[in-house]
Amino acid sequence: MRRLFPLTAPSVPAPDSENTVVGAIDPTDREWTLDELADAYAYPAADAPERAGRTGWLRANMVSSLDGAAHHEGRSQPLSGDADMRIFGVLRGLADAVVVGAETVRQEGYRPARAREAFAARRAAAGQGPAPAIAVVSAGLGLDFTLPLFTDPLVPTLVLTGAGAPPDRVARARAAGAEVLFAGEGRGVDPARVTGVLAERGHTRLLTEGGPKLLGQFAAAGALDELCLSLAPVVAVGEAPRIMNGPAVAVPERFALASVLEEAGFLFTRYRRA
Ligand SMILES: NC(=O)c1ccc[n+]([C@@H]2O[C@H](COP(=O)([O-])OP(=O)(O)OC[C@H]3O[C@@H](n4cnc5c(N)ncnc54)[C@H](OP(=O)(O)O)[C@@H]3O)[C@@H](O)[C@H]2O)c1
Repeated sequence: MRRLFPLTAPSVPAPDSENTVVGAIDPTDREWTLDELADAYAYPAADAPERAGRTGWLRANMVSSLDGAAHHEGRSQPLSGDADMRIFGVLRGLADAVVVGAETVRQEGYRPARAREAFAARRAAAGQGPAPAIAVVSAGLGLDFTLPLFTDPLVPTLVLTGAGAPPDRVARARAAGAEVLFAGEGRGVDPARVTGVLAERGHTRLLTEGGPKLLGQFAAAGALDELCLSLAPVVAVGEAPRIMNGPAVAVPERFALASVLEEAGFLFTRYRRA
């Protein structure tokens, strides 16, 4: 893993010329420890200027092929790789809650988040539980509530839905052990309300793992603070959506580049709302 941006080492004159300056070289071209990655991806502190006026921080983590596919045959795994999975794990290790669309839960067979020793001390110091809560966003609640995600998590799984969600399914979710939170007046969730509803539960360091339909709504609602986008060195062709899938926004929103890491041809970019 090496950092391509920002580079902090000073530029040095090339040995063969007095005038040419070669770019700063990141000396850390090796596998980074989980701690180093966790430092690199730390959430902005509650009093950081970029968090001013916001109840929480919603970060997305997505992987895309070079040609823009967000999955291959319904799964993101064919696009991913070792370093991508490490970063995926680190981002979970830093989060209070992982917000995910019901279709991703169904397609990817979501399980409860694990407690990992590597993050235990950091989480305790940050006042976090042993693992992030998984927060499933669903309108219809057509979910299998007998799965371990609902019946056997380390911390109760949250179900985010609208006030008009089918009452029998709300009851089934609760009976399975899930905590149902309402974040919308109709059947569905108002994406702009998710951060506030989760903050009321003490969850302010938020990570969304998509999928594209949910992420498109967060972005369109102006609720997305940060995008961690892994660009995988593969082409997938096909008809998979991009990492955000939904109606276009009126004016494309600008994000600013925060960092770029590289390993094995993958680019691990991080953008923040400008
Ligand atoms: N490349 C990546 O990094 C990445 C990441 C995640 C997923 N994926 C891939 O993306 C695919 C799934 O993504 P997707 O875009 O089809 O679906 P998705 O965003 O994961 O889930 C869509 C579902 O979420 C619920 N939902 C979305 N917006 C809602 C709202 N405002 N209120 C209430 N519920 C809402 C609905 O669930 P109900 O139908 O239950 O009402 C909806 O059907 C999978 O193939 C997965 O592998 C890729």
